[in-house]
Amino acid sequence: MDKILFSEQQILDRTQLIANQINQDYKDKQLTLIAILNGSVVFFADLIKKITIPMQIDCLGVSSYEGTKSTGNVVFRQNKLQDFTDRHILLVDDILDTGLTLKATTEKFLNETNALSVNSCVLLSRKNNKHKLLIPRYTAFEISNEFVVGYGLDYNEEFRNLPHIEIFR
Ligand code: IMP
Ligand code: MG
Repeated sequence: MDKILFSEQQILDRTQLIANQINQDYKDKQLTLIAILNGSVVFFADLIKKITIPMQIDCLGVSSYEGTKSTGNVVFRQNKLQDFTDRHILLVDDILDTGLTLKATTEKFLNETNALSVNSCVLLSRKNNKHKLLIPRYTAFEISNEFVVGYGLDYNEEFRNLPHIEIFR
């Protein structure tokens, strides 16, 4: 049985469409993309190569999951952020489940920096979750309740290196 949910080529094609949209939406704006580590590294690297407008990058380590369950509290591995004066922030994450991680991270940027805007871009979002705490501006794919790994997504820090996204069993 095929466990592969999205192939590398499918992900790259969809990433190109999102990059095109970002190029339009942030034209003439000072943009900083923030990689939410560790999960977004693979998607982030592919996405930024397809962005053609001037931009900067930064990274922030954030965690909330152990195994296949959210711990319900969001831990930042770095406390002090740059001030990002006059810049527009786009947070990039692997998957939006409850939205807790991205909501807490968005609030951290709004409260602790001078950014002009804070939006988010996710590789995956769960379509059945009706109680999302945050709606991302860009979503590559919607998935159901299955736990997935690969392309940056982990189960206890493993499988991030798979070149596609597959269902974890
Ligand atoms: P949220 O805070 O509930 O939105 O959960 C988002 C975080 O949970 C992501 O950044 C992932 O680290 C993790 N996560 C949620 N679902 C999955 C999954 O199916 N596979 C791997 N990690 C997941
Ligand atoms: Mg994770």
